[in-house]
Amino acid sequence: MLTVTEAIRQRRSIRSFRSDPVPDDMVSEILEAARLAPSASNRQPWRFIVVTDGEEKAKLRRICLDQAFIEEAPVVFVCCADLTAYTMSSRKKRSQEFLDYGVTETLSGRFADPAFRAALNAAPDPDLETFLTPAMANTYIAIEHMVLTATALGLGSCWVGALGNPGEINALFNIPETTVVIAVLPVGYPTVIPHPRPRISLEEILLRPLAVLSK
Ligand SMILES: Cc1cc2nc3c(=O)[nH]c(=O)nc-3n(C[C@H](O)[C@H](O)[C@H](O)COP(=O)(O)O)c2cc1C
Repeated sequence: MLTVTEAIRQRRSIRSFRSDPVPDDMVSEILEAARLAPSASNRQPWRFIVVTDGEEKAKLRRICLDQAFIEEAPVVFVCCADLTAYTMSSRKKRSQEFLDYGVTETLSGRFADPAFRAALNAAPDPDLETFLTPAMANTYIAIEHMVLTATALGLGSCWVGALGNPGEINALFNIPETTVVIAVLPVGYPTVIPHPRPRISLEEILLRPLAVLSK
């Protein structure tokens, strides 16, 4: 298995897969990598459907703008964010877990203060739509864990964010409206490992020059 750095360097978007199935223990390992991802206030909004059925993959391909590699991949993860992870009852559950596990250093220790926690927990149930951005951001982290784990296992994958009408994916898999489809991730053994794709330079991503780079 590759190290994290090796996986980051060797990962490519793979859009052509061999027909060999992905072993179940690898599927489990990829899901475990998602489960262990960090999330704000430990809300863990990510949810998944694992698709291996040919007919379901063909329908998914059609919905996702006819991207052929979705149907070709032996396994496809439908990656979703459950907005109900942001209800007050969920918040209270996660808060209680923090206490139970002694995670009181959250928010520079303010979380240890019962009055602070009481104020947090007294807020009314939010409009779940307002949590779409954090739900997506946190689920993206989990998905990239899956991508890197797949690479480390010798598999290929490709993020699919072009979902066409994501509501059609909800309908296909009976996913409730409060669970938003974020991305689709086809995974399998690559037929070819492409060359690295271009990236902008370190200088371009630094908003302030870094002395050590100009040496
Ligand atoms: C959020 C996200 C959505 C993407 N959606 C698609 C997609 O729908 N179809 C596709 O072929 N590639 C998609 N990609 C892959 C990008 O095109 C690819 O990451 C980029 O061109 C860099 O190439 P590399 O991943 O091989 O380094 C997506 C990537 C990300 C991160």
